[in-house]
Amino acid sequence: MKEMAFDYPKTHLFHFALFLVLILRSANVEGLNVGFYANSCPLVESITSNVVKQTLSVAPSLSGPLLKMFFHDCFVRGCDASILLDSPTNQAEKDADPNKTFRSGFEIIDRVKSALEMHCPGIVSCADIIALVSRDVVVQTGGASWEVETGRRDGRVSLRNEAFSELPSAASDITFLKLLFLQKGLSVKDLVVLSGAHTLGISHCAAFKKRLYNFDGTGDINSTDPKMDPNYVAALRKKCTNNNNDTFVQMDPGSSKVFDGHYYELVSKRRGLLESDAALLDDDETRKYVETHKIKGNQRSFFKDFAISMVNLGRVSVLTGNAGEIRKVCSRTN
Ligand code: HEM
Repeated sequence: MKEMAFDYPKTHLFHFALFLVLILRSANVEGLNVGFYANSCPLVESITSNVVKQTLSVAPSLSGPLLKMFFHDCFVRGCDASILLDSPTNQAEKDADPNKTFRSGFEIIDRVKSALEMHCPGIVSCADIIALVSRDVVVQTGGASWEVETGRRDGRVSLRNEAFSELPSAASDITFLKLLFLQKGLSVKDLVVLSGAHTLGISHCAAFKKRLYNFDGTGDINSTDPKMDPNYVAALRKKCTNNNNDTFVQMDPGSSKVFDGHYYELVSKRRGLLESDAALLDDDETRKYVETHKIKGNQRSFFKDFAISMVNLGRVSVLTGNAGEIRKVCSRTN
C-alpha cells in the first residue's frame, strides 16, 4: 500500500511530462516543412552544403562548433538564430562563456548567408542556415543524412543571461538533464541520442577539470571523480595540468573528426569526458541505450535515431509564419 502511494504521483508526473513533450512538439511543428524553399530558393541546400564542404576541407576541426551551434541556438529562445546576434554592450547570447568557444563558426554561417543573399536575397533565415549546416556537418564527417525541415524565422532578441540559464553545464546530473530536455519538448531518448554528438570535437580542460582534481571540494588535489576510469583520469591529468585553462582534448580521442557511434563505447567504459556524459549511466533508460549502442554493429541504429532527434531539436520553440523576420545579415536585426 505504502509503495503504491509512492508510485502513484511518480507515474502521474511521468505521464504529465510525456504529455507536455507531445503538446510542445505538435504546437511547434506548424509552419515548418521539408522543402520550404523549393520555389523561393531552390539551390539553398546545395549552396549551403558547398560552403560546409569547402570549410571542412581546410578546417576540419570546425565540425564540432558548427554542430554544437544548433544545440546552443535551439536551447535558448528556440531555434531562432538568437545565438548569432551581436550586442554593442556585449550582452548577447554569444557573449556568454558557453558560447565563446565557437572559434570561426559564426563566420562560416555568415559566409553561407552571403552566398544565399546573392542567389535569393531576403528569403532564407539564419535559423534555417544553422539547421542545414548542422546536418551537412554530420553527413560530411561520416554520419547519416536526414531531411531538414525549414521555414524558421529569425528572432530579434538575444540575452547573455538566458544562455547561462538555459544551457546545461558540463557538471549537470541526469535528473537535471532529463528535466531540461523535457522542458524543451525533448524526450529522455532525445537526450541520450543527442549526447552522441560528443563523438565530434573537443572540450577545454576547464569543462571537466573538477573530475581530475579536488573532486570532493576539500582542497585535496588527488580527489578524483569515482565515476571516471582511473586510467583515463591519469591520462587526462597529464594533458590538463591544474593551472591551465586553455588546453583542450578530443572528446572522442582518435576519431573526434569522424561522426560515429564510438561515443557510447567510451561512456560505457566510464571514459565519457564530461560529468553529463557519465550521467547517462545513472538512469535505466539512458544506460540501456548506451549499453546497446556501444556495439559497433548498432551504429546504424544510432544514426537513424540521431536523425530523428535532430529533427525534434529543430522544432524547439520555432518562429514561423509572420513571427520574427528574415535577417539580411545574421549578426544583426533588420
Ligand atoms: C546534454 C547536455 C550537454 C552538455 C552538458 C554539453 C556540454 C558540452 C561542453 C562543456 C563542451 C565542451 C566545450 C568546450 O570546452 O569548448 C561540449 C562540446 C560539444 N558539444 Fe555538447 N553538451 C551537451 C549536449 C550537446 C548536444 C545536444 C549537442 C549537439 C546536438 C552537442 C554538441 C557538442 C559538440 C559537437 C561539441 C564539440 C565542440 C567543439 O569541438 O568545439 N552537445 N558540450
